[in-house]
Amino acid sequence: LPTTFALLLAGYLSGSWLGALTVCRMAGVRDPRFAGSCNPGFSNVLRLHGKRLALATLLLDALKGVPVLLLAKGVGLPPWAQGVVGLGVLLGHSYPIWHRLRGGKAVASAFGVLLVLTPWVALCCAACWVLLAWRVRTAAIASLASATLAPLLSLWLAPEYVLVIVTFALLVLARHVWNIRRLGGGDELRLGARESSQH
Ligand code: G3P
Repeated sequence: LPTTFALLLAGYLSGSWLGALTVCRMAGVRDPRFAGSCNPGFSNVLRLHGKRLALATLLLDALKGVPVLLLAKGVGLPPWAQGVVGLGVLLGHSYPIWHRLRGGKAVASAFGVLLVLTPWVALCCAACWVLLAWRVRTAAIASLASATLAPLLSLWLAPEYVLVIVTFALLVLARHVWNIRRLGGGDELRLGARESSQH
């Protein structure tokens, strides 16, 4: 239990580091928290600053949870405890200690965590995300669908992680409340042409 707690803390702290902010700061471009959807994540960086910076954001956010999860697996924590550590990463990304608890929607970070826990579920969800985002040009729809797909897939591919993945999915869904409202109102932002100051 002390190991789980220590790794949970390490996961939370690494999750708290927001890739989008580092990337945008280094590139000298506008902080994504103040434009577009105001979300510090891959999709909003894509919307605001294009593919190159979005990809860098995705890589950082996905990879930040990997070392601590590999450690959790390496020391032989049971699946539920690995899940607790992964949840730490997602909570860090969503409620980062460094940024007054205002973070992102935990999609890329969940992908990175799942990549370690159950790679096939992660890869299938990523494929679903890319396909949907490309077809409907709406990141939130792709994220909501992938978050729904993940627990279903894990029932089949990784039953030992079902509860863990349901928890991740619920967090991701909860982080999309505003997107869901905007989708209902028909004014959700789309991916595609760059936007500079849409709010
Ligand atoms: O990956 C986050 C995505 O689901 C929504 O992002 O910027 O469109 O609110 P955004």
